[in-house]
Amino acid sequence: MLGPSYDPREPPLVKPKIPVVGHLIGLMLNRVHYFNMVYDGNKVPIATLPMPENNMYVIFSAPMQQIAMRSNSMAANARTVELIPRLFGVKMKTLLGWLGKDGVHEDMTPSMMKIFGTTLSGDSLNDMTSTTLVEVGSILNTIGEDGLHIENLYSWLRYHISHAVSIALFGTKHNPYYNSKEIIDAQWDFEAGLGPLVMGFLPSIIARSAYLARAKVQEALRPYYEGNHDQDEDVSNLVKERGRLFRKWDTSVDQLSKNEISVMLAATTNTIPSMFWYIAHVWTRPELVEELRSEVARIIPCLHEPNGIRRTPPPGLKEITINFSKLDASCPLLGSCYREAVRLSSQILTLRKVATDMWITDSDGKSYLLKGGNDVMIPAKVVHRNADTWGGDVEGFDPRRFLPDPNGNKELDKLRKISFVPFGGGKHYCPGRHFAFAENLAVMAAMVLGFELEGLDKDKLQMEDSKMGQAAKPVPGFEGGPCVIRRRKDWEHIEWKFTK
Ligand code: HEM
Repeated sequence: MLGPSYDPREPPLVKPKIPVVGHLIGLMLNRVHYFNMVYDGNKVPIATLPMPENNMYVIFSAPMQQIAMRSNSMAANARTVELIPRLFGVKMKTLLGWLGKDGVHEDMTPSMMKIFGTTLSGDSLNDMTSTTLVEVGSILNTIGEDGLHIENLYSWLRYHISHAVSIALFGTKHNPYYNSKEIIDAQWDFEAGLGPLVMGFLPSIIARSAYLARAKVQEALRPYYEGNHDQDEDVSNLVKERGRLFRKWDTSVDQLSKNEISVMLAATTNTIPSMFWYIAHVWTRPELVEELRSEVARIIPCLHEPNGIRRTPPPGLKEITINFSKLDASCPLLGSCYREAVRLSSQILTLRKVATDMWITDSDGKSYLLKGGNDVMIPAKVVHRNADTWGGDVEGFDPRRFLPDPNGNKELDKLRKISFVPFGGGKHYCPGRHFAFAENLAVMAAMVLGFELEGLDKDKLQMEDSKMGQAAKPVPGFEGGPCVIRRRKDWEHIEWKFTK
């Protein structure tokens, strides 16, 4: 038989139409959506896909996805040592020094995970969110009578939110992204070429534009790390602590500035496309904007009056402060719309590798043998678009889908809960999810309350399938067309502020 051997105790075998390379070609042509095609064609809870070198397991069942993400027998970092040099151009020797060949170091790995946990929560998280939103506020507050005319909403958000987030992460004075469209665009050109870069084959030729863009950003980061500016006062604890940890491991400035291109990558790759879809879904539904307006107004104390909530600011009021840490708990519809936008746009592909032979059991009690050394794919798009879980309207945007339903079916609620996996799960559950939620909800809250977004054309919105398992971006040319942000009548003079 051509290709790797198959044991009938492994998950059901899905043979490719073209022997050996068929699934590889399917993935190249259809990107992450290929896994939805395999699922739709086979309706199995887990499958074995023979690849040229080994079998790949793809998990479609939500309960088994959860088991895999939490399993200690499946390594998340097994490919780190192989992939980081390809993605960031860091030397293999550096990676081996940090992590060893298995990608896990008994000191370095837990120290880094602790940094993620502590610097993306509590006061550090609030500081980062506040700084990002000060920047957002400064854009909104300068909108004048003519409104803000935007040619392309996605490009506009990509630049301005990246810029705001970069300030929250790297400070202002020496931050290489600060006021630099060139470096921010280069960061995204690099991001666009992650697919060819990860192949690792002649990157300077095959992935030329991403390769050159990466070098440009890394050169700009170099003086930042050379001057130890990652330890400046206005820098996030995340960037500070990472810098300290890598230096403790004798990392050279060259390798540090190469590796730290990953910071902006993690912080913006999924957050900004998800913000785009959040805005696009909400602002193409005027009645929903009205409902969100009422919901957000209810949590602004200065809009309260004895008989209810004011529809316009009280006379003399000059500024409104939005408390970003309260939004998710106090504005359920605002939060539900974000979750729904993320459900539809997330095409996250969580990767694991089976350490040694193991069994995995589905909720119906059926077990499957997973052989050590094989890769495991956990595609979010399959569970996010399963009609048995979400209902017949699974492909559509339902603003209320994530609202609590006291009369709901408890079993179905549980299934939906485990079928919403945009942030992964288990040990590597995204530590940045609170930041993503806070910035998205706060931007939307200020927009609905004080502004109109005019001109967004729902016929000019189309989602692109992700190449590498990130949040889906809009298809170029289908970003909703030109639009205008205008201040709402009677709210023209309001200054927008954000607090924790
Ligand atoms: C909508 C926005 C976001 C999405 C959908 C997302 C998604 C994910 C997913 C699926 C993982 C798990 C990967 C795995 O299990 O192998 C992850 C991990 C991670 N994310 Fe996010 N993320 C988002 C925003 C952010 C932000 C804003 C930051 C940082 C500021 C961030 C930092 C990280 C880090 C550091 C990890 C690695 C955690 C670990 O390996 O333990 N993410 N993210």
